[in-house]
Amino acid sequence: MSDVHIVVLAAGKGTRMKSARPKVLHRVAGTPMIDRVLATAAALRPGTTVVVVGHQADVLRRSLDGTPGLTFVVQEPQLGTAHALLTAEKALDGATGTLVLLSGDAPLLSLRTLQQLVDRHASTGAAATVITAVVDNPHGYGRIVRSGERIARIVEERDASPAERQLHEINSGIYAFALDGLFDAVRGIAAENAQREYYLPDLVGLYRERGLGVETVTVTNPDEVRGINSRAELAETSRILRDRKNAALMAAGVTLEDPATTYVDDQVEIGADTILHPNVSIAGRTTIGGGCEIHSGVRIVDSQIDDGATVLDHCVIAQSTLEAGTTVGPFAHLRAGSHVQRRAKVGNFVELKNTTLGAGSKSMHLAYLGDATIGEAVNIGAGTITCNYDGVKKNPTVIADGAFIGSDSQLIAPVTIGKGAYVGSGTTVRENVPDGALAVSAGKQRNIEGWTAKRKKK
Ligand code: UD1
Ligand code: CA
Repeated sequence: MSDVHIVVLAAGKGTRMKSARPKVLHRVAGTPMIDRVLATAAALRPGTTVVVVGHQADVLRRSLDGTPGLTFVVQEPQLGTAHALLTAEKALDGATGTLVLLSGDAPLLSLRTLQQLVDRHASTGAAATVITAVVDNPHGYGRIVRSGERIARIVEERDASPAERQLHEINSGIYAFALDGLFDAVRGIAAENAQREYYLPDLVGLYRERGLGVETVTVTNPDEVRGINSRAELAETSRILRDRKNAALMAAGVTLEDPATTYVDDQVEIGADTILHPNVSIAGRTTIGGGCEIHSGVRIVDSQIDDGATVLDHCVIAQSTLEAGTTVGPFAHLRAGSHVQRRAKVGNFVELKNTTLGAGSKSMHLAYLGDATIGEAVNIGAGTITCNYDGVKKNPTVIADGAFIGSDSQLIAPVTIGKGAYVGSGTTVRENVPDGALAVSAGKQRNIEGWTAKRKKK
């Protein structure tokens, strides 16, 4: 069992977000901030991970359901960060060693810095170690007050004197503590401050007065300890992560025509010589091969795009696969379970859902293809609709290799169009079409000579 234990504070209301959602569930570059904090925490392989929840505790707990190894404690009411830590005492019963305290609203902390904190804390044998940063704009953060070289105490913005407000070294809200004697000491913190809250940073002054060792680790990149309290800070922090991801993509050989408007989530992988045009969003667990071209206004979520695929402007692609050499768009919508096989083409105003479009097949204009299995070298004419829903359930359509579906046809599922079969334009297909057959359902055309002239006379 590891002798490092983690407590993550996430009970606060996040008043400054002005949100009905718990603050820590707001997404930073596509991922809830608490998920980022917990991922970094897990990499430390702690013995225990306690999450302190409070405001909207149920929503938060539910959203963390899938994260293994968490113990939740509820802080109600929320009386400050020191009070929050005390609510974790029971959950840590009997734990010895080091407690690392993380803030659910500081998602940029790197594992390297966290490891540095733990190492420094261990090697100095301090009672507490604080991560600090020297920042240009310290507004809103607790300031590190030093006496000589050593940290003396931390003072919150609201309680700081004008001189203290000039200090640029800030408290990250991330600490390591020796568990021995910690909770007794935290109980000694009073709420004597502007907010009438129990401030955990007060522990530093308290320890120093008692002659206990308090150390600091100052990060070289102050972005790492950014706390998010407002929507503006949420956007700034997302920007930092986006820029980082974009830089990594470019270093790996991906062309970003306009990095400022390129939004690629962390886990996304993109091969070399792929070009991303402006205003592209690529989210979730998406993989894009090499030599692809993704044009403007495209959003791709949880999808796989193989080498040499082209996605033209303004497509939405979710939970779908595009095989090598395919072309999709402009203005196509590929919904969950769409699979466009080698060199197949999907054109404008085409919607696919749970549909396979076989190798070399084409659906170039205005179509809805849902729950369909379409073979190779099939041509789907403009305005083709699979009527897959009968009002009760979804039904499948099968279109075999080499079939030709004339424009403006409705295929009433369940239905099968045989190999090499033809469906005449404007046909409503209600029954299976055998291999090689032609299906027509429209009546015979009648021309009434001179009709226009007669009408005009009236
Ligand atoms: C806190 C620190 C400040 C530091 C800053 C870094 C205190 C008093 N101040 O200020 O020195 O510079 O973080 O970002 O600690 N929380 C609870 N229960 C509570 C109150 C807060 O769980 O009763 C949680 C919040 O959900 C949040 C974290 O603790 O995740 C920090 O609280 P917040 O109110 O954001 O503190 P800051 O004002 O940012
Ligand atoms: Ca904060």
